[in-house]
Amino acid sequence: MPTHTIIEPFRIKSVEPIHWTTRLQREELLRAACHNLFQLPADAVLIDLLTDSGTGAMSTRQWAAIMEGDESYAGSRSFDRFRESVNDIFGYRHVIPTHQGRAAERILFSVMCRKGDRVPNNTHFDTTRANIEFVGAEAVDLLIAEGREPSLNSPFKGNMDVEALERLIARVGRDRIPLVMLTITNNSGGGQPVSLQNVRAVSAVCRRHRIPLYFDACRFAENSYFIKLRESGYECKTPKEIAREIFSYGDGCTMSAKKDGLANIGGFLCTNNDSLAQQEKNLLILTEGYPTYGGLAGRDLEAIAVGLQEALEEDYLRYRIASTAYLGNHIAAAGVPIVQPPGGHAVYIDARAFLPHIPAGQFPGVALACELYLEGGIRSVEIGTLMFGEAAKMDLVRLAIPRRVYTQSHIDYVVEIILKVWRQRERVRGLQLTYEAPFLRHFTARLQPLEQPAAQPV
Ligand SMILES: Cc1ncc(COP(=O)(O)O)c(C=O)c1O
Repeated sequence: MPTHTIIEPFRIKSVEPIHWTTRLQREELLRAACHNLFQLPADAVLIDLLTDSGTGAMSTRQWAAIMEGDESYAGSRSFDRFRESVNDIFGYRHVIPTHQGRAAERILFSVMCRKGDRVPNNTHFDTTRANIEFVGAEAVDLLIAEGREPSLNSPFKGNMDVEALERLIARVGRDRIPLVMLTITNNSGGGQPVSLQNVRAVSAVCRRHRIPLYFDACRFAENSYFIKLRESGYECKTPKEIAREIFSYGDGCTMSAKKDGLANIGGFLCTNNDSLAQQEKNLLILTEGYPTYGGLAGRDLEAIAVGLQEALEEDYLRYRIASTAYLGNHIAAAGVPIVQPPGGHAVYIDARAFLPHIPAGQFPGVALACELYLEGGIRSVEIGTLMFGEAAKMDLVRLAIPRRVYTQSHIDYVVEIILKVWRQRERVRGLQLTYEAPFLRHFTARLQPLEQPAAQPV
């Protein structure tokens, strides 16, 4: 008989205490943070689901590898091990280490893009968009229509709209499109995967027009496992075989090792193009460091070399994807509106549907995130009107799960708190802004709750 209990495929060797606070203390802490969860001291958070980036736990093998770190300025052994591990999975000719993903993006777009260029992606993450715009190019999102319907349950909602890509190339010409990107999994689109069929189709279009295809590969292992679970023909392949096939259709990638590198810092840029690699390394030396360390310590390179391989282990991925789905499915079963299906690294609650009595202008996502903190000391993040202003199409609350950090009982606790807030949702009040910075306002905004609960819709 199959077992249903999700167990962590690891034993705990070292623990980090987390602290309870009382509701009264949390009310005071939230007031002092001006109702902005970024402003809370991390110690005042019981379960921190703000991000899955750089917040994972390292394994005994990673800690052991750290002791092997070779801190030589040039030609370090740690770089050789790092390059071998990256090559084994990604297979690109040049591997350029960087301090995190956005540094790889900045170098890639500075070298490849010019003012007026367009860079299509399924959905750009905010740092890729910002780095493209910084060089005067335009970041274009070409997500399939299904990906924009939160409640629709479909297996590959991260796919790119291939016909829209063809139309863009026909409209602006291939010379204005220096590269195409695919983000696996699609973070800004709910952590949804891209199918191999879609990767092949996008790659075929790129090859026909001689446009390089790059992957934003942060969550490549989770995407590979979704393909194994959901795409016919891949059931018997290992996640590593699937990852290798994905990358074989591209010309390079950017990577934040803070996600599926299972490391707390680091990233890299890969390319098959010798001349681009030379220019990229020249830029790297200017701002990151020598090409055998790229802003990282030798010990970081070692941790990433091991982490990339561990992220592809099936026991780990089975637990990771099942645990995130468990959270999403349990709250959805009680009626909580979420982006369906649950993503690989996070569950996204639809705050507008959760709190229909709070209009977008009163920040329903922030109101819900604050309530989860007040009720149970859980920190999440609003992705909505506070983050994007009037351009926000949805108000979501993202619960991002750090890798190998929380146990199933922590997840059960999160379910319990969300359901408690769900049952008393009509009591939640909207907020108003008292301070906003001219850009990226969500990090530093100050808010205060409106006096009365917003009027019930008639
Ligand atoms: C899809 C995606 N791309 C790029 C990045 C940027 O990586 P980093 O935070 O390491 O700069 C992130 C980080 O969250 C991401 O989710």
